[in-house]
Amino acid sequence: MKRKLLAPPLSSQLDTSGEAFIQNRSDMLEQLAVIDDLLDEADGGGGPAAMDRMRSRGKMPIRERIAHVLDPDSPFLEISPLAGYDSDYAVGGGFVMGIGVIAGTECMILGNDPTVLGGAITPYMGKKWMRAIEIARDNRMPYVSFVESAGADLRIPTGDGGSRLRVQTEHFAETGGFFYEMIELSKLGIPTVCIVFGSSTAGGAYQPGMSDYNIFIKERSKVFLAGPPLVKMATGEESDDETLGGGQMHAESSGLADYLAEDEMDAIRICREVVSHLDWAKEGPGPTLVSEEPVHDAEDLLGLVSRDLRQPVDIREVIARVADGSRFEEFKPRYGPTMVCGWSSIHGYPIGVLGNNGVIHPEAAEKAAHFIQLCNRQDTPLLFLQNITGYMVGRDAEADGIIKKGSQMINAVTNSTVPHLTVIIGSSYGAGTYGMSGRGYRNRFTFLWPTAKIAVMGPKQIAGVMSQVRRARAARKGEDFDEAADAEIVRMVEEIQEAGSLALVATGAVSDDGIIDPRDTRTVLALCLSAVRNRAIEGARAYGVFRL
Ligand code: COA
Repeated sequence: MKRKLLAPPLSSQLDTSGEAFIQNRSDMLEQLAVIDDLLDEADGGGGPAAMDRMRSRGKMPIRERIAHVLDPDSPFLEISPLAGYDSDYAVGGGFVMGIGVIAGTECMILGNDPTVLGGAITPYMGKKWMRAIEIARDNRMPYVSFVESAGADLRIPTGDGGSRLRVQTEHFAETGGFFYEMIELSKLGIPTVCIVFGSSTAGGAYQPGMSDYNIFIKERSKVFLAGPPLVKMATGEESDDETLGGGQMHAESSGLADYLAEDEMDAIRICREVVSHLDWAKEGPGPTLVSEEPVHDAEDLLGLVSRDLRQPVDIREVIARVADGSRFEEFKPRYGPTMVCGWSSIHGYPIGVLGNNGVIHPEAAEKAAHFIQLCNRQDTPLLFLQNITGYMVGRDAEADGIIKKGSQMINAVTNSTVPHLTVIIGSSYGAGTYGMSGRGYRNRFTFLWPTAKIAVMGPKQIAGVMSQVRRARAARKGEDFDEAADAEIVRMVEEIQEAGSLALVATGAVSDDGIIDPRDTRTVLALCLSAVRNRAIEGARAYGVFRL
């Protein structure tokens, strides 16, 4: 019989009728409305005309294809739906990817949106694609791709296309990496399954070329290294789509197609059959504890974090609304209190939680390093709840060994081998981002609340530091210091830094896995905790030398 953790539920001090809560909640809802509009835009792909054209050809949009392959009433955890936000490219990158359950098996599912540039490979699509491969590999999940792609993005860069051309060129150099990585997946024993839904040229054609299993569709799948016009130019040969690369030809002559479906739904049915015969078993255990709803309402998470991140947040208020039964066994609560550490569970999956309750002091870093080692000893995944302005600076902190102890913590995070999940609820600044297992620290998943801000430091600090540098330089050179001009620069820098640190900017650049509604945090984490268990969970028993 499953047990519960013995820790009692956390109590809550949140004043849900207070002015601050009401203001925060209203700001959060406003930010969520903006995100919802952008999600709708991503959903709309290349726009209503392109969608209508797709339907008039009897084809389903990519999200519908994915919805049909999933088990009924099962969730789809979409990753980076707003990639490409605030760029020259369509929001969503013309690509949909996420984790979903097919025939009882958690799979990484990805696919082109052919209404966006015919599914051509843009840099944002490339970033998402690489991330999809990484998720499949790190979490040992079958990789299922829905291909319909015009290959490389061949548009002529115009207008501000100078930057587009540079991005395209840089990106092209990496394109081959997708195929390298797909072959790596197969080598690692992670199955790759591909349905070709339509025309797939060149880069699009290599995807079935690199997959373990291919499903083609009669009179729909057209797969060739070069389409009829290019063949005519290259060799003078006359051809048509169907004879050059049709599904029937590939099923009967080239052997590239393993299955030939009658239509899209038939292809999806075959895909489900293929996944079911994989007989995929998770290496990690299922939930070992009882799943209990938190005793505090997730709705309250809307009013917890202010737009002004200088307002303190008690991270326990988040844990209380995410953890099973709000249970939390806090470790060393009286030592290094700005780092909250303790054991909890989500949907029955045990988890060690580290959350920020202020700047990281030397003893807080030391406590985190200790806690991370304990969780590794017992193979418990870690949840990092980031709201961090960084490690403590100043004479006392330096004398107390903030560099040594901060490095111990970063060492522990780096060498930890249990899965790390990171949720950024507020600030994620400086080395605090590293110590709290930011994306560069090979965490398995990173999600942002709309209130998240990611930067080397806060806008005021960046602007202020550079103002002091200018002032000191003027004094050194014996020059007058123009206070008014400096104030203007400070104002400008703050504005630019603030705008550049916003969650939407980060997620547009695919530097995380997406922005979530705070109320969904528990569900999203549970899906991730289930996904990471496709791979065995083995904590580190050895670490780099801790400088003591
Ligand atoms: N790069 C960038 N944009 C592309 C593109 C590519 N490789 N292929 C197509 N597009 C764009 C089109 O310009 C069009 O854009 P618009 O909506 O702004 O006008 C849009 O995608 C749809 O293309 P269209 O040809 O109207 O749609 P279709 O469904 O009838 O045909 C293809 C789609 C992909 C079959 C067809 O466009 C095609 O053959 N493209 C060239 C593929 C190729 O040779 N690739 C070689 C890559 S190395």
